[in-house]
Amino acid sequence: MKILLAEDDTQVRTELRELLVAEGYDVTTAVDGIDAFEKFRADELIEILLLDIRMPRCTGLQTLDAIRKIESGSDRIFEAIFITGNGDNDAVIAALKLGAFAFLFKPLVVEQLLTELGDASDTINQRRYRAFQSALLTNQGESVQLTKITTAIKGGMGATSEIAAIGAEHYTPGIELHVHRISEMALCIAARMELEQEHCQQIRLASLLHDIGKLGGPADLYTAERKLTEEEFEKTKEHTNLGAALLQHYDDPIIKIAQNIALQHHENWDGSGYPAGLKGDEISIEAAIVHAVDIYDNLRSTRPYRTALPHHEAMDVLVNGDEKSNPDHFHPGVLQALLSQHRQIEAIYERYKPMEGQV
Ligand SMILES: [Fe+2]
Ligand SMILES: [Fe+2]
Repeated sequence: MKILLAEDDTQVRTELRELLVAEGYDVTTAVDGIDAFEKFRADELIEILLLDIRMPRCTGLQTLDAIRKIESGSDRIFEAIFITGNGDNDAVIAALKLGAFAFLFKPLVVEQLLTELGDASDTINQRRYRAFQSALLTNQGESVQLTKITTAIKGGMGATSEIAAIGAEHYTPGIELHVHRISEMALCIAARMELEQEHCQQIRLASLLHDIGKLGGPADLYTAERKLTEEEFEKTKEHTNLGAALLQHYDDPIIKIAQNIALQHHENWDGSGYPAGLKGDEISIEAAIVHAVDIYDNLRSTRPYRTALPHHEAMDVLVNGDEKSNPDHFHPGVLQALLSQHRQIEAIYERYKPMEGQV
């Protein structure tokens, strides 16, 4: 989540910036109200405004007022938190009228600051998630046909898929949240890529089963709280073939897609993935979508060999790579869709966030 920190005191600004960056926030700074207004307008990634009330040229209140006016009618989602001196009650009332999310009084208490920022992030993500859901409903609302399709899917194989995916939880705590995140993220990307509505819904359900092969073991490796050896890692790769084998006997169209996703969701666009080393369009679009969101989700989750990354750092790894990941691993159209939908993706992650100790 990106914060715009507007504070005229250089030392406070520098210290706060360092603190917030260490907490995983992406931070831009402004030296006064006009600077803040211009930076907010120029960078639409900014979602939280942390404004000092007393600043030269333009106060924090005037800044928020100007931003609210210029953004009225736009669908930009943001929240503002004010920093103010103790006893400045008039300013507090004025800020309330402007719809401030919270106030922090000087001297700042770090825990309070982080709590307010965490709450503002949650609120933003919830609003974004609701906006994503209602946009989907609006797009699909007129299609009676689609309602029929969704009902049929939900009633039949959909339920089976969900139950089977949730069944895998037995082996990896929290996997039901992981599969729900993957399912919604895959739907979000598929919709962005303008795949047929029915196809999008099929992908949503089929992707619930992407890791179903993990049911075939080795369970101890999936739950191991340590880095796997080379040999053990090779064994876990088998969940792709196992998943496809588990699903091969069903004739349902969703299960056919699920089978393909289970088999190919670790294949890389440049041919360096597994199990078959498929390349480019040899990989189905459904699997390419699940592959990208699965990697994003893994980067956001704590692993025995590294801590969870915040959203913007996970996006950075997808786009620029790191020692394990490379942008050439992804279908270019999928990566582009992921970038353009990154806020919705973050909101979905937050909606189905894992609890401590879960994947
Ligand atoms: Fe997998
Ligand atoms: Fe997965």
